[in-house]
Amino acid sequence: MRRFLKWFGIIAGGLLGVFLVLLVVLFFVGSQKVNRTYDVQLAPVAVPTDAASIARGKHYAEAVGVCQVCHGQDLAGPVVAECKDVPCTGFSDDPVFGKLMPTNLTSGRGGIGGVFTDDDYVRAIRHGISRDNKSLLIMPSEQYNKISDEDLGAMIAYLKTIDPVDNELDESNLGPLGRIIAVIAGGLLPASQIDHSAARAPSPVVGVSAEYGGYLAEACTICHGDQLTGSKVPGNERVDAPNITLGGAPGDWTKSQFVTTLRSGMTPRGDLLDPRFMPWNRFNQMTDDELDAIWLYLQSLPAG
Ligand code: HEC
Ligand code: HEC
Repeated sequence: MRRFLKWFGIIAGGLLGVFLVLLVVLFFVGSQKVNRTYDVQLAPVAVPTDAASIARGKHYAEAVGVCQVCHGQDLAGPVVAECKDVPCTGFSDDPVFGKLMPTNLTSGRGGIGGVFTDDDYVRAIRHGISRDNKSLLIMPSEQYNKISDEDLGAMIAYLKTIDPVDNELDESNLGPLGRIIAVIAGGLLPASQIDHSAARAPSPVVGVSAEYGGYLAEACTICHGDQLTGSKVPGNERVDAPNITLGGAPGDWTKSQFVTTLRSGMTPRGDLLDPRFMPWNRFNQMTDDELDAIWLYLQSLPAG
């Protein structure tokens, strides 16, 4: 019996040792990914200044790109005190996992507006890279990489006009657990997921088509996954975004039921979707044509 205990102790201790070494290795690999710098050739994006373009940029940012989900109602970043009571999307303040602080995008105190050049916006939004050439954390640039030059230029034009709001936030950083997770979870470091030198697809033709719907639905993949067959909400790993292909609930819905769900948050089943996680309170600003296009796109996808 004693011999058994001795061997058991040696094996258990050995396994624990291997496990600890593995964690340390993962921590270093993750740290290297976090500190990797990217040298990206930025293609110039024209940033207009006319009112119609600024309105288009506001519409994209609010109704399609749903920047406010993480950056807050006035784009000044989350109100930290509020995020302690109710989990805010994209936010974390935890020494073990790390800090995720969606940036104050205004020109108020603590904000980047007024400091960022047009290139800085392009680098951040399209490439997921900050001004120190490192990857941003969880900012969904993998999806925003597909935004056309016209929409991106208009959105930058709009961001330059938003009202200043003071909100000084800590810098984002990944703690030990976050670095270990970053080794496998690519979405934590968006720049690592993007082909920065890929040729750009031509701008989509705006219209009620599955093709344009696919362009708009890029934002849906942030939470519902690449194939829209379901995934986790970034920064809220406990929240599931369900399958929204025809293999999921929308397979039994009519177009008008789909539109009603995205406008009111009420599904045909009578469930009210939680707007903190499923931003129907933003998507309800999409036009009828935009929602119809997304519906056509969902019809065209394989049922997952
Ligand atoms: C899922 C949450 C999320 C969404 C949605 C989101 N962001 Fe971010 N964004 C972040 C986080 C977190 C940071 C800070 C990352 C860091 O500092 O590493 C950030 C940083 C930024 C930065 C600053 C980059 C820098 O170098 O400091 C810009 C600009 C930005 N976001 C623009 C946008 C725009 C425009 C949209 C909408 C089209 C958007 N974001 C949507 C989470 C998000
Ligand atoms: C920030 C994350 C996020 C984004 C972006 C997002 N969703 Fe969702 N969605 C969710 C979550 C989470 C749920 C489940 C919410 C609940 O049950 O309260 C959901 C639920 C839904 C449902 C209900 C499905 C069912 O089974 O009842 C539909 C339909 C839907 N989303 C469509 C979309 C479309 C279309 C887009 C893009 C235009 C989109 N979502 C973008 C997170 C998101």
